Formats: sequence, C-alpha cells, structure tokens
Amino acid sequence: MCGIVGYVGHRPALPILLEGLHRLEYRGYDSAGIALVGSRGIETFKRSGRVRDLESILPAARARIRRATTGIAHTRWATHGAPSDRNAHPHLDRHGRIAIVHNGIIENAAALRARLALDGVEFASETDSEVLAHLIAAMPAGRLVDAVRAALQLVTGAYGLAVMDAERPDTLVVARNGSPVVLGIGEREMFAASDTAALVRHTSQVVHLDDGELAELRADGYETSTLEGGPTVKTPLTVTWAAEALDKGSYGHFMRKEIDEQPDAVRRTLTGRLDHRFHTSRLGGLELDPRALLEIRRVKILGCGSAWIAGTIGAHLIEQLARIPAHAEPASEFRYRNPVIEPDCLYIAVSQSGETFDTLAAVQEVTRKGGQVLGIVNVVGSSIARACGRGIYVHAGPEVSVVSTKAMTCTATAFALLALHLGRIRDLAPTEGQRLVAALEALPGQIASILADEPAIAAIAQTFAGVSNAYFVGRARGYPVALEGALKLKEVSYLHAEAYPASELKHGPLALIEAATPTVVVLPRDALFAKNLSTIEEIHARQGPVVVVTHPGPLPIAVAGRIDVPQSAPELDPILLNVPLQLLAYHVALAKGRDVDRPRNLAKSVTVE
Ligand code: F6R
Repeated sequence: MCGIVGYVGHRPALPILLEGLHRLEYRGYDSAGIALVGSRGIETFKRSGRVRDLESILPAARARIRRATTGIAHTRWATHGAPSDRNAHPHLDRHGRIAIVHNGIIENAAALRARLALDGVEFASETDSEVLAHLIAAMPAGRLVDAVRAALQLVTGAYGLAVMDAERPDTLVVARNGSPVVLGIGEREMFAASDTAALVRHTSQVVHLDDGELAELRADGYETSTLEGGPTVKTPLTVTWAAEALDKGSYGHFMRKEIDEQPDAVRRTLTGRLDHRFHTSRLGGLELDPRALLEIRRVKILGCGSAWIAGTIGAHLIEQLARIPAHAEPASEFRYRNPVIEPDCLYIAVSQSGETFDTLAAVQEVTRKGGQVLGIVNVVGSSIARACGRGIYVHAGPEVSVVSTKAMTCTATAFALLALHLGRIRDLAPTEGQRLVAALEALPGQIASILADEPAIAAIAQTFAGVSNAYFVGRARGYPVALEGALKLKEVSYLHAEAYPASELKHGPLALIEAATPTVVVLPRDALFAKNLSTIEEIHARQGPVVVVTHPGPLPIAVAGRIDVPQSAPELDPILLNVPLQLLAYHVALAKGRDVDRPRNLAKSVTVE
C-alpha cells in the first residue's frame, strides 16, 4: 500500500529517492517524506499530499542536502493516524539519530508506546510506525543491523522497513515480515524498495527478501540474515521490464495506456505456449506431470478484487473445457473460515502484484494444511509467486494504474491456457483443442478492434455520467463480466454500480430498476442469448434503459445503447466482452472529472490485512 525507497552509494541520493517515490506513488498517495543523512546528521522533509507537494518544500534545503549519498523515502496510505505532515514518514527517535520508513502494521504498538513512554519518550505522531525508531534507538550500541534485529524481536505485526543511523551514514538496514522489500544491486551502489518498479530505472539485478529476513546495505554490497541472526544466501533475479513501460508516454493516464497495451500484453501471455501439434498449451511452470494433473478432482481459485473475478472466468473455463468442478472464492474470505483442504483439489492463487496480503495468507493456509497450490501471477519473483513455487506467469508487463485492466485480461487468458491444458489431458477432443488454439491466437487482433470503437463507447459513457446508480447483469460466463464491469465503474468513477446474475434479477434487484437507472446487459450470442433477451424485456417493463455488450448481428429488441465485440470461441467470450467495459468506466470517470490514476481510498497492491 505504502511505498519505500532507500539508497546508499556514490551518487546524490535525493533525485534517486524522489524518482523512486514518483514510481511508487500509485501504491499510496496521502503523504510523502524523505530523510537524508549528511554532515549535519539526519534531515527529514515530509508533507501530506502528493510527492509534488513534498518537492515544493525542498528547494530551500536542496543546496545543503544535495551531496548526501544515503537516504530513505516513503509514500503513505494512512492506516494508523490521519494523513498529515506529522504522521508522514520518515519517523525519528527523540534524538534524531535513527530514521525509519515502514509499511505494514505493528500490532503491539500500543503496548510498546506505553513502555517507551515510561522511559520518557514523547511521540511526535499518532502512527504505530514511530515506535520502531524509538525502539531501535534504545538498543545497545553496535552494528545498526543488530540494533534493528533486537528491536524487531520485540515487535509483532507486519513490516517492510528501512532504517538509517546518523552515526553510520554509509549503511542502510532493511527488514521484511509480511510486507515486501526488494534490494537492487548497482555499481558501487545499493537500492532498496517495496516494489521493483522503483528500481528498474537503475538496475535489473534484484533480490527479494523473505519474511523474517534483514539486510545490511553499503555502497559495495549487501549481507542478509535472519531475525535470529543466522546468515542467508540469496540469488539475484534479472528483471526484464523496460523502464519505459513504467512511463505514461503520450497518454493522459496509466489506465488508458494499459487498456491500449492489451493486444501486446495478451500476445506475451500466449507467446511460446500454444502447441499446434497436439492442439493444447505448453505450461512449463506448472511442474505437475500429466499423471498428477489427471488426479485432480476439483479446482479452487483464490484471489481478491479483479484477480478473484478473473478466477471466476477461469473456473468457468476449467469446468467447460476440462470438466473438473471449479470454483473461485475471495482469498480474504477463504482464509478466515478454517477451510477444508482436500488432497485431490488443485488450489490456484491469482494475483497481479503477487503481494496481496489476503491472497498470500490463503496460500500459506493451503500449504500449511498440505494442499497443492500454484500461482497465476504477474510480478516475477513476488511473494505469492515464491510462496507457490510453481504456476503461470501472466507477462502482462508492469501495471501501474490502481485499477487493473491489462493484468485482468491477461490473467483470464492464462486461465484459458490452463483450462485447455487440463482439457486436452482429459477428454477435450483434438478438434476442440484446435478450435481453441485458433481462438486464442485471434484474441490480440480482436482486442485491438474493440479499442478502435472507443468513440462510440465514450458517447455511451456520457449518458452514465449523470446517473446515481447503474446495474450490470450477465448469465453463467457472462456474470463475471458484469462483476468486473461494475467493479471498474465504481472504483474509478465512484458511481454506485452493482452486478447481479441475470437470473437473480427477479428475485430482488428488479425492485431497484427505474427510468433513471441504466443496466448493462452482457449479451453474447450463445446458448443463453434468448434467456438474456427475456431479462432485457423485464428491465424494459420497469422503464429501465438498457445498454448491451454483445456480438454483431440483428437484435430483436430496441436498446438505449449497444457495444459490439467480435465473436470468439464461446468459452473465451468473457475476455473480449470485458474490454469495452474498461473503456466505459474510464470515460465515465473522465466525464465526472475523477482522478483516474489515483482513485480515492484505493491503493495498488493491498499488502495489509
Ligand atoms: C481492481 C483492482 C483490485 C485488485 C486486487 C487484487 O481494479 O485492481 O481489485 O485486483 O486488489 O490485487 P492483486 O491482483 O495484485 O492481488
């Protein structure tokens, strides 16, 4: 949620930290701060608001601090204590010797605060994080890493942490428990961040810390160790993201850019994975041989938000193509209900960031109980990818927009590959496999043709801008499309939008339909077309205006708006039907003057409970 950046090296730290904060601002954006250590000790600068607000208070000090070559920085998404200058990170101990930035939640902060207060500590903020600065300062003098380790042994909770000591200006210490920390290895310089996005401009060599691990960073290298003090050995990973992928380029918003990137992103998801000889897919990362896959009796998919909805599309695909019972459930619900873990069930964790706390906790619950889990994840080397140890990388490229678009589409495509693979191991005929391989290959071009229809979709969006409520309905595989359409609209435009299975309308929600309430009906030309037409009649009978997302061809009913998408294999239709609803949400948000890339109250990658 919040973002951390740290630097120790031979270059001025300030521009590197500021650039890193801009990269991470999408993770949280209610306040930002920087601490630098130089000849005059530690200097901190913090401000509620955006990184640009922080920048506005720097010029006066710039000359003084520009030579500092060690620093830490933070962009905050408030959990404990309102967004304000004093609650912004970094936090200092009472002598201004130790500076910390922290992501996560310290659960025993109240008890630690009370104990520190007895020793005369006065707190400068309402945050749980500040206790860490005072605790570390209170530890016996010695190596900073040992003081941090000793302090963390008194802490319960989640943290991604970076620490600096005015008396050791050549050292940074970082630690991780439940909130990501990545090290970046440079030439005579080291970087640390909560997200690879802050590092790729400087280095492609990264090291992910594990929970319960600390690292001491100096310009000439790093050492990692456990909370108990034992050394650990890490293997650096090479990141392949191009730094330009993290820029908006000529686009006004990351969301719009990432919608446009979908043809290429889906092509990447498919690259090297279609097998024309056996009409199936090749998924090397599964690490489950056909015999093991044949033994699967059930599939359970776990994720949050759009990842869960992509999993719902995946469950339909797996049931249809492989005839294995499959179901998707929000990971956040699953982990709290003491779930029954079955040995012949395949659990699949879905996540764009690979860092969503609830999804990671669900993976840990499954593995703790002996279940087999694989990940469908976008960020290579992320916590969920490592916790699963096998699975499918989505290869959507970096997704910066808080609301997910290309990762959702690519994840659904990855599910199609998995369903095809499972199907072809079982009873899916070669001709059926051939039909699906061809349909998958056509997806990028078909998505491009939907995007070309943007002006018509933008015109429909204008009619939504003035309403207070909107409904989305779909049947069977159309229902997740409705769910995702409603989620996107409410996230980015704040318009109240709800999704229902079309068949449920008459069991309650119909009471809400009136002339001022538009309903988007997901209307593929499939076996349920006639049933969906009846739903439209029901809505019309209550004077409700209807917009359909459908396939080309005559419609026997007049509707208020119509968006056509090209027809695919019916099983893959949801992937295409979803795309215009992203554009609809984007244009409603524009019409309502919303901050598209920074929707209120939301943060990319929810790394707290
Ligand atoms: C929706 C959205 C969120 C995420 C959810 C899971 O537009 O972005 O609902 O899908 O927070 O995030 P990941 O996929 O990173 O686990």
